[in-house]
Amino acid sequence: MSREAEPTQSCGRSEAPVSVTRRAALQAAASAVAFATAPASRAQQATPAATAAIESSTIRLVVNGQQRTLTVDPRQSILDVLRETLDLPGTKKGCNAGACGACTVLVDGRRINSCLALAVMHDGAEITTIEGLAKGDTLHPLQQAFIECEGFQCGYCTPGQIMSGVACIAEGHAGSPQEIKAWMSGNICRCGAYAGIVEAIASVAKGGKL
Ligand code: FES
Ligand code: FES
Repeated sequence: MSREAEPTQSCGRSEAPVSVTRRAALQAAASAVAFATAPASRAQQATPAATAAIESSTIRLVVNGQQRTLTVDPRQSILDVLRETLDLPGTKKGCNAGACGACTVLVDGRRINSCLALAVMHDGAEITTIEGLAKGDTLHPLQQAFIECEGFQCGYCTPGQIMSGVACIAEGHAGSPQEIKAWMSGNICRCGAYAGIVEAIASVAKGGKL
């Protein structure tokens, strides 16, 4: 019998013999690690020009009615482009994971969580943010209604709530408080100002008068 096939005793337990199969598995695993960590071949290595191309893309957006041509990192979300490249900080970053709605904007008229949308995938899109709602000094009716109905406390979620509310009304999903609650459920308010938010949306849906 070979040494590998002899049972061994350790800590009072009988250990299974080291089998050829186990050794082969360990060698295969070691080979896989060596392959994964080996440097890429010359053909596989990215040139500086290729790296620069990967790191930036040129896109065109219409943001709040203004045509913008931007060089963006393909990994940048619309949220980060708005806040960091275009200096439009009204759209808020809450969870950055699609769970809170603080980053809601309209893209081609539809509300989306901008933290989950890559800017390069929306080349040519029309984007409306909270900064684009008011007409000069005149607030959008829903902005006015949020003030009159006290639809906020700290205000952090408010831009997202208002953008989502604008879309909720346009979609025809603001027929009753229950419907508004259901269709606004993706927008979280940590201050719990939900009663005022629903009232504001309902009042504008009914004609803008409180
Ligand atoms: Fe986008 Fe929370 S920041 S959903
Ligand atoms: Fe504070 Fe909504 S008003 S989180």
